[in-house]
Amino acid sequence: MTLAGGRSPLSSSAMEALHRLASRLTETAGRLTGRSALQGRIATLEAQLGRLEGAGDGAGAAGGTALAGETRELYPTGHFYSAVPSRQHLERYRDLVLGQDPLRIAGVELHLDEQRALLDELAPLVADVPFSDHGEDGGRWRYHFHNDFFAYADGLFLHLLLRHLRPSHVVEVGSGFSSACLLDTSEAFLGGEVQFTFVEPYDDRLRSLLRPGDEARVEIRNEEVQRVPLDLFRRLGPGDLLLIDSTHTVKAAGDVNWLFFEVLPELAPGVLVHVHDIFPGFEYHWPWLEQGRAWAESYLLRAFLQYNSAFEIVLWPSLMVGVEAESIAARFPQAMANIGGSIYLRRRR
Ligand SMILES: C[S@@+](CC[C@H](N)C(=O)[O-])C[C@H]1O[C@@H](n2cnc3c(N)ncnc32)[C@H](O)[C@@H]1O
Repeated sequence: MTLAGGRSPLSSSAMEALHRLASRLTETAGRLTGRSALQGRIATLEAQLGRLEGAGDGAGAAGGTALAGETRELYPTGHFYSAVPSRQHLERYRDLVLGQDPLRIAGVELHLDEQRALLDELAPLVADVPFSDHGEDGGRWRYHFHNDFFAYADGLFLHLLLRHLRPSHVVEVGSGFSSACLLDTSEAFLGGEVQFTFVEPYDDRLRSLLRPGDEARVEIRNEEVQRVPLDLFRRLGPGDLLLIDSTHTVKAAGDVNWLFFEVLPELAPGVLVHVHDIFPGFEYHWPWLEQGRAWAESYLLRAFLQYNSAFEIVLWPSLMVGVEAESIAARFPQAMANIGGSIYLRRRR
């Protein structure tokens, strides 16, 4: 340290000591910078590994590495400003993640009796469910239960509810196997009368499942939901269905924020809403968390439903399996292969 334009007031030995200290601090700072850069690099590699591990369930094809843009990580995984919890954080709070009672969520009425009554109404329809595990039906159906996107219980209850509700119009955000299930069900059980709108910006999977003539019968909006006019959602009426299975992430100008903040408030009373990958206790599976799949839609949905008298839970199969597994296994056998993550809500008023 020198004073501008003058002699230093410190002795030369004190100045030397200060120089030595300054150079040690510079070295330490260099090591710290290197360490933090290294931590950032490790976090990026972990995230890439997570994406590769998740590729089997569609992460690669639907928003993973293939579609990633610039990698920009100001705060590494595990930093208190990062939305991605580190493994150490998860271990430290394992009790909070796994210890919650899914039947006691403050401010959320689970309507178990009403769910039981609905399951009673759906059970007789199971006898005519046409779908096979792997498509062992000679190509008769677009949908089969064993797939990475909308498997077993998800497909089964969507099929049963569609037959039960007989909607006029279904809007789906995030399409593919679920859409295949919808189209088959409408064609085989509802006279092909249901109007479908699929909002899907990356529509390869959807189109690969369609049959000749489908594209003329359904509306495919090949764009992000944030750019779809709200009028589409306002047109849904009582008994109609909105299916949400998009990025599951909560971020600035993201699809999930848009759906919760702009779309749900526009729905008419009586419209049903399906949200995918919502598990009992509104928590994600532990292995998904360990992978670094930092989805937050489930937490947003929980906050949305708490003390919310305008929307009610109609059916949550994965929760009901926890309540009465034997009864569900006996009446909905296909559901037990994979109980899935579907939740159905209804706008009450
Ligand atoms: C989990 S997948 C949907 C799976 C689909 N329901 C099925 O059964 O195959 C999520 C989908 O969200 C779509 N997506 C990504 N960003 C979106 C956005 N902004 N708006 C709507 N959909 C989006 C992806 O293209 C992807 O197909």
